[in-house]
Amino acid sequence: MTYRSGRHFLQIPGPTNVPDRVLRAIDRPTMDHRGPEFVLLSREVIEGLHTVFRTRGAVVIYPASGTGAWEAALVNTMSPGDSVLMVETGQFALLWQKLATRLGLVAECIPGDWRHGVDPERLEARLAEDRSHLIKAVCVVHNETSTGVTSRLPLVRKAIDRAKHPALLMVDTISSLASIDYRHDEWGVDVTVGGSQKGLMLPPGLSFNAISDKALTAAREAKMPRSYWAWDEMLAAGKLGFFPYTPATNLLYGLRESLRMLDEEGLDNVFARHARHSEATRRAVRAWGLEVFCLNPDEYSHSLTAVLCPPQHDADKIRQVILERFDMSLGTGLGKVQGKVFRIGHLGDFNDLMLAGTLCGVEMGLQLAGVPLRGSGVGAALEYLGTAAMAPHLPVA
Ligand SMILES: Cc1ncc(COP(=O)(O)O)c(C=O)c1O
Repeated sequence: MTYRSGRHFLQIPGPTNVPDRVLRAIDRPTMDHRGPEFVLLSREVIEGLHTVFRTRGAVVIYPASGTGAWEAALVNTMSPGDSVLMVETGQFALLWQKLATRLGLVAECIPGDWRHGVDPERLEARLAEDRSHLIKAVCVVHNETSTGVTSRLPLVRKAIDRAKHPALLMVDTISSLASIDYRHDEWGVDVTVGGSQKGLMLPPGLSFNAISDKALTAAREAKMPRSYWAWDEMLAAGKLGFFPYTPATNLLYGLRESLRMLDEEGLDNVFARHARHSEATRRAVRAWGLEVFCLNPDEYSHSLTAVLCPPQHDADKIRQVILERFDMSLGTGLGKVQGKVFRIGHLGDFNDLMLAGTLCGVEMGLQLAGVPLRGSGVGAALEYLGTAAMAPHLPVA
């Protein structure tokens, strides 16, 4: 049997399901990226990104995965040997730290247990110790995709302010942008890193930096070598509606469509929808008798849920059963939690029945894999979806 009927369920926490409207928008002839039509396209997407990042400042778009935008944030603002402070919220925080080290920065990481977000008090204490202000940037992951933990950024900002520390604040929003409330300007973020393949409902291949004036000033003094990622060239070309090199034109058609869709639904409704689906998922996990990996209810992720498996059951074996039997992909455990957790992505273009199907697949897969379940998680989730929170995201007639 070489054909599997029906849609594959792509329930990893990104890349997410690409909606038909976006696929159709991408499926068009590529235009001249130095012509007048392109200017209209680039102006519309930059304006839409301003809304999504909640910023009035500069935004650049790279034809690159999120890792490229991580690198761009650092090489534009730092000088060789500068110190940056990271916080070990999970695998992606460690990968950003590794990238910084490979670039020649001194990347210190405040250790963490992966089951909590950034601890504002520990951050404040470390910054207060740094009286000579050697630390040039604090880099945090807003939503840790490896663990399903969302750090409370307003508290992070307050911790930096209380320590009276001038470090730049850099935030990775790759799995929170357009899924979980985020405010670049209001929260005093200097560089926000984003990616196309999660809340923005696009294929992988675009990434973003939203940049504060303070970061732009730092970029003028910064000495790290940079060319492809250089903000000055991107922003100079962007003023005219162009790129300094060939942009990913067809992905930009898709971006224009996804930004229109987010606008039609309304960002607040998008956030409420994600919150509702995450609550339903956690209810399912508890009803199965399993553990949500995130330990602090104030830090539950709205875009994914990492589920801790009983010690005698390998999470990847459960994922394999679910893939083979029900044609659904779930996120693997990354780094030190490989085999211990699986991750359910409930972000992007998603609705109640897609979540119900997802949870049915997980429940049946757990049973087939021999995991003893306390009760029906699907039942618990449906009860919540059907009654308690009547679709707060639907427009009132
Ligand atoms: C929070 C976070 N940061 C960074 C990355 C790396 O992005 P990419 O794989 O697009 O390079 C990912 C990818 O999933 C992520 O989830």
